[in-house]
Amino acid sequence: TRRYDLVIAANRLPVDRVVAADGSTSWGRSPGGLVTAMDSVMRGRDGAWVGWAGDPGEAPEPFTEAGMYLRPVPLSEEEVAHYYEGMSNDTLWPIYHDVIVQASFHREWWRAYTTVNRRFAEAAAEVADDGATVWVQDYQLQLVPAMLRELRPDLRIGWFDHIPFPPVELFAQLPWRRPILEGLIGADFLGFQRVADAQNFVRACRQLLRAQTRKDTVTVHRPDGGTHTVRAAAIPISIDFRGLEELARSESVRQRAAELRHQLGDPEVLMLGVDRLDYTKGIRHRLKAYEELLQDGAIAPPQVTLVQVATPSRERVDSYRELRTQIETTVGRINGDHGAIGSPAVHYIHHTQPLEEMAALYLAADVALVTPLRDGMNLVAKEYVTCRWDNGGALVLSEFTGAYHELHQAFVCNPHDVEGLKQTILKAIHTPSKDKARIMRALRRRVADHDVQRWAQRFLDALAAAPGAPQRSA
Ligand code: G6P
Repeated sequence: TRRYDLVIAANRLPVDRVVAADGSTSWGRSPGGLVTAMDSVMRGRDGAWVGWAGDPGEAPEPFTEAGMYLRPVPLSEEEVAHYYEGMSNDTLWPIYHDVIVQASFHREWWRAYTTVNRRFAEAAAEVADDGATVWVQDYQLQLVPAMLRELRPDLRIGWFDHIPFPPVELFAQLPWRRPILEGLIGADFLGFQRVADAQNFVRACRQLLRAQTRKDTVTVHRPDGGTHTVRAAAIPISIDFRGLEELARSESVRQRAAELRHQLGDPEVLMLGVDRLDYTKGIRHRLKAYEELLQDGAIAPPQVTLVQVATPSRERVDSYRELRTQIETTVGRINGDHGAIGSPAVHYIHHTQPLEEMAALYLAADVALVTPLRDGMNLVAKEYVTCRWDNGGALVLSEFTGAYHELHQAFVCNPHDVEGLKQTILKAIHTPSKDKARIMRALRRRVADHDVQRWAQRFLDALAAAPGAPQRSA
């Protein structure tokens, strides 16, 4: 096999294998912000991507897609349950997102996590050329940096945290806090969404490993007597601004946006929520605020309506099942109480929409509600403003997102404060469009200047300049 200069290791490949009822297989785009961002970075770079194809069992043969060499990593049925649904999404995900739901700790999940991380490290080592750069992604693969360094000391190893890094008080609950920190320290450079995330990591190393730390570096002793230093800094992720804006300007998307408004009964105010169906996204809080505004008579269908797109996610994990039931009960109640034939108060969609349809929805929506309780970045906020080339629309944005630190001119809310959230939504509706256009211009400028290409370049430059290498060759 050929070997590559740039290798991505991520839990998921950019495409998922879909097996139909008749046994035939096809490929579809994988869910989530990580793939949205990384896919546009890797296109045309002639790199390799090591990841899981999204179903249990034997991995498909490696293949090339959009100029990327895709190397599938197999996960057994049990590994999907223990490493992916268990350790990644029922232990780490809640701990890293402020314990919005309780985290579960199971030693067999941890064992599967180490086994699978080793498999990813081996696959990356196999396709990486001499002295290549390996860019490891996210919380599912935190042990890969150190494992990979052991296998291949010649590599430049970076890791990016797409989600928050928790305060040490929460991180310390993890029975495996030490091996996780040691796994990450194997990298040369660690990228985070916010300054606070990078600081949380450095603080955890100081307090839990007694490592030697400076503002943004952690230094540890190696078994051979030398030292290894890793740098941790904030480099917030973004989207392909130009590509998406071009799509949103296309005739077909404009037409579809107009058609959507018409199909929705030509409301005066169209509100929009777009999320993976996840408890971190604050969908319940958003629906509560919306329901109360209807009850108060502050807004009323058909003049006002809400489209909520909730993409299916992690559907075998209990907390996700329970959330789905709660959301669907609430949507049913709101429509029962406030809807009429032909004009529901909430249009609820629980399946993935093509990107063109999303762009049309963004372009059509007067108010986008981005109200997570905790979110590493939230690319929906950036996608929404990118699609508003007309400077229309208003973004309601939670303070608990990474995006807030860049888009603070938005209509900012604390989603836990229902009263405040209601007031912010009303403000977003009633602010004169001249003022809203000024805000939108500022938000758009920020995303245009800090797009995903720039993010990737900043990360790779920081990785190349990281202090790791010279000491390693000593
Ligand atoms: C977030 C995570 C990604 C993950 C995505 C979708 O964006 O940071 O690592 O891929 O959610 O979740 P899933 O579990 O379906 O991969």
